[in-house]
Amino acid sequence: MLSFFKSKPHLKDLISEGFIDIHSHLLPGIDDGAKTIKETIHLTKAFQDMGFSQFTTTPHISHYIWNNSPETITENHKKTKLLLEENNLEIPFRAAAEYLMDDSFENYFKEKKLLTLKDNYVLVEMSYLNAPIQLYKTLFDLQVAGYIPVLAHPERYTFYHKNFSEYEKLKKAGCLFQLNLLSTVGYYGERIAKITEELLKKGMYDFAGTDVHNMKHIASFSNKIKINSVSNLKEVIANNHFFKR
Ligand SMILES: [Fe+2]
Repeated sequence: MLSFFKSKPHLKDLISEGFIDIHSHLLPGIDDGAKTIKETIHLTKAFQDMGFSQFTTTPHISHYIWNNSPETITENHKKTKLLLEENNLEIPFRAAAEYLMDDSFENYFKEKKLLTLKDNYVLVEMSYLNAPIQLYKTLFDLQVAGYIPVLAHPERYTFYHKNFSEYEKLKKAGCLFQLNLLSTVGYYGERIAKITEELLKKGMYDFAGTDVHNMKHIASFSNKIKINSVSNLKEVIANNHFFKR
């Protein structure tokens, strides 16, 4: 049969058994993710049901909005781990953070040790409104301090959409890219799905993450992908194996 109209796969079917997620907001009451332990349990169970083998959850750390610290996150993680075990959820999970690169970040990482995804890999994000003025200096200094920046969801920074060369510049500046998987089903809109396709085609993504905050996100993994670069996407998903511990 001709396959011109071959229908696209569902996102969850592309996620290989044993997937290791590196970006989510599952710790209860600590950011805009899970609000209660009950929500944490539902979300963790969903991860387990989708076949994830382990995950690192990444609460926001941003000076002005989510003033979390390694101490509050570690404490919350410890308590949550026990409660999940009591509920027969044995999936191994760690806690790191998603750091907002705002004007206080530079002083922050010079004074404090950052929570990392693995070794010196640190998950960073920026505002959806504009890039920080000192972005390239921050990225440079972060690397001088010994870290490798993994930029969360580059496709979601719409201010780069009409200036694609900025993505190339970021990669040259040593930034790794983490794709938000839900971008491939159009969860954040058509324009973001289109840029996702372009970044995938050009092989610019290094890793993938769910960025799950709630059950609505989980439900959207049942949607069909809107992009064509299926093999590139599968490759990016497989790259997360790097984070196996
Ligand atoms: Fe996030």
